[in-house]
Amino acid sequence: MDLFDKANHWTTADDVRSQDLYLYFRAISSAQDTEVTVNGKRMIMVGSNNYLGLVNHPEVKAAMIAAIQKYGSGCTGSRFLNGTLDLHETLEIQLASFVNKEAALVFSTGFQSNLGILSTIASRGDFILSDRENHASIVDGCRLSFAKTIKYDHNDPKNLESILSRLDYDTPKLIVTDGIFSMGGEICNLPTLVQLKNKYNARLMVDEAHTIGVLGKHGSGTGEHFLLQNDVDIVMGTFSKSFASLGGFIASSRKVIDYLKHVSRPMIFSASMPPSAVAAVLKSLEIIKREPERRQRLWAIAQKMKKGFEDMGYNTGSTQSPIIPILVGEDAKAFIMSKELGEEGVFATPIVSPAVPPGMALIRTSYTATHTDEQLDIVLDKFYKIGKKLNIIK
Ligand SMILES: Cc1ncc(COP(=O)(O)O)c(C=O)c1O
Repeated sequence: MDLFDKANHWTTADDVRSQDLYLYFRAISSAQDTEVTVNGKRMIMVGSNNYLGLVNHPEVKAAMIAAIQKYGSGCTGSRFLNGTLDLHETLEIQLASFVNKEAALVFSTGFQSNLGILSTIASRGDFILSDRENHASIVDGCRLSFAKTIKYDHNDPKNLESILSRLDYDTPKLIVTDGIFSMGGEICNLPTLVQLKNKYNARLMVDEAHTIGVLGKHGSGTGEHFLLQNDVDIVMGTFSKSFASLGGFIASSRKVIDYLKHVSRPMIFSASMPPSAVAAVLKSLEIIKREPERRQRLWAIAQKMKKGFEDMGYNTGSTQSPIIPILVGEDAKAFIMSKELGEEGVFATPIVSPAVPPGMALIRTSYTATHTDEQLDIVLDKFYKIGKKLNIIK
């Protein structure tokens, strides 16, 4: 037996490639925008998390360039030692205020933010109650923690309560949920989670990756949307979506953030966000506050597309957001459909098992505030044509 046997004998990707249906790692040779270029072909992008359309915004790009001119290209070290810039601290103060918490701490990715908080704040003897469809970074953060993790059924407070009611009232517990679920697009049932956390003496953490810039009067996420900001104990966010950059953050009480700063290994032992990435987030935050019309437009698009798909007979699951899954069933159908969409000039990605349960493959579509109605109508037309051809819609 050789260590490499598992890789050498692994054929899943090759099987899909041999049918000419492989659609991952597609190289884009233009800016990430509502239209992108792939292999010289223009495609309408409905598979990104560029919710507010800031990735290619001139002010964001200018802020990044100015940061490079002043600070150089990177930080060459961890926040803990030499990698803290005044820019990181400015961003942390602004983020804490935006999500209405005492303090915030930025990490180099959203993934690391979840690893960093969960592995640190939940320790041996504690419990983590995690929604079954939470993001992989939450799953891995739970794995890294010495606490015991129990998964509850997706967005199902009844099942969560049946678990909580069996745990000792005084044992420390954390309930953790995505704000908007990244594949299904549902909004978590925050009001009930808050009731349960109060009744059973737990803390509550919300991953706001897909909600910042999207949900709430000022775009600060699920807590603001439900007017329950003060009841969320830990807010996690990422900069790779509405913020048009790379990185992530945790916001909470001053004591929790100070503890994280000195104990969280994914923060202490990894280099800090480069200055250009921080500058992009600062500028995006300014635009998010200044231009609520982007958020309004995004919601109008989400409504139009959901209605458009459902009128054609597509199953969009239980989405309540600008993430609109098109449920197609078998993995092969999702691959074929994405490929045909690509040939018709629409970039949308197939999501298959294990990212979703077997037999529940889907095409994940998601939208950008700067999509034009003309682009969206083309997308709907192409979905109609291909759905009929593949017998997915009648
Ligand atoms: C819900 C959720 N949490 C965390 C992450 C990780 O964020 P990042 O891409 O910034 O590492 C993602 C990104 O896909 C996500 O969807």
